[in-house]
Amino acid sequence: MYDLAALREEFPVLSTCIYLDSAATSQTPRCAVEAMNAYFFEYAANHGRGAFRLARRTTEEYERTREHLGEFLGIPADHLVFSRNTTEAINLVARGICWEKGDEVVTTALEHHANLLPWLALRERGVRVKVVPQEGGYVQEGGIQEAVGRATRLVAVNHVTNVLGTVIPVEEYAQVAHDAGAAILVDAAQSIGHMPMPRTDLFDYLAIPGHKGLLGPQGTGALYIADPDTLAASCYGGGMVADVSHDQFTLLPCPARFEPGTPNIPGVIGLGPAIGLVKALGVGAIHRHEREVGERIHAGLSAMPGVTVYSPLGSTVISFNVAGMAPDFVAVLLDQKAGICVRSGMHCAQPLTQSLDPRGTVRASVGCYTTNDEADALVRAVGEIAREKATA
Ligand code: ALA
Repeated sequence: MYDLAALREEFPVLSTCIYLDSAATSQTPRCAVEAMNAYFFEYAANHGRGAFRLARRTTEEYERTREHLGEFLGIPADHLVFSRNTTEAINLVARGICWEKGDEVVTTALEHHANLLPWLALRERGVRVKVVPQEGGYVQEGGIQEAVGRATRLVAVNHVTNVLGTVIPVEEYAQVAHDAGAAILVDAAQSIGHMPMPRTDLFDYLAIPGHKGLLGPQGTGALYIADPDTLAASCYGGGMVADVSHDQFTLLPCPARFEPGTPNIPGVIGLGPAIGLVKALGVGAIHRHEREVGERIHAGLSAMPGVTVYSPLGSTVISFNVAGMAPDFVAVLLDQKAGICVRSGMHCAQPLTQSLDPRGTVRASVGCYTTNDEADALVRAVGEIAREKATA
């Protein structure tokens, strides 16, 4: 286990509150902020667009993050396209595949809107979307196997659900998809940096957030593309072309062809050392620690009268409700009474969340820096709120 007290020094904001919303976005470590400061104060220029010293350094630092991420995932860096977030990475796939009428996308009832809306939006082009039902936060047994057929072009699933924290067997689904001649996209929004990943090269597309488990700044993400020729560019402009005339243009290879325009240069530069920190802590150690804290929250809340916990034991994303209270109100009270930050509502996964409670849930989510004391503080504060409600 890493030195938790020393790690927390890297995140000054943690001394001001109890932050239990890492599934939405992580806090950013000093090393990432310092790298961004250095960019702004010492060498800011555009990426890939200048021969002068500052521009060369900018390009080097930006590309260094791509190398770090490639090493972290065990894949060639030039198959990684930077994006603003996981959502944009998934949309690059939805817009980049050359769909034909009658193609099918198979997804599940456990998805974040980012891995549902891009597929539903394709229906106007004649693409069919099959949503495999869920049971208790897991994909219905045999559901993917039954849904995938000859018309399936893509299976799009998340790796860890953002509402319940359940882990989906994406390696198994990759096999099912490939056996049927379909591709698989995995949404790693809640897994990367939090737990050991399956071999990335099992997937055709992996959508990656920079600002969650990888501890990078907001506005960063990436898409891994196993075979860049399977996607067409869907956004056009500068920085992506080898040759242009008024009649035609020739695109550069991946990743440049998918990164037109000036990207989030400081964000990507900040992401590099953040990945370095995650590597130094060790994803296995992070996973063990987060599970321990998650189990403490789960055990405490599950034993409490008037509290319903929806997530299974072992989850690090714990959705719950207090009887008779709106989730948003509970979140406000937790903040007011104990300085605890949790998300409440639909969690951008309305179909799944509404199936648990039509008003949504309260969601506590753990990060590599969360302590057992913080878990206990949450349990105490929820207990107080539930008791006050019961006696009101
Ligand atoms: N996807 C993020 C969440 O689950 C924003 O909160």
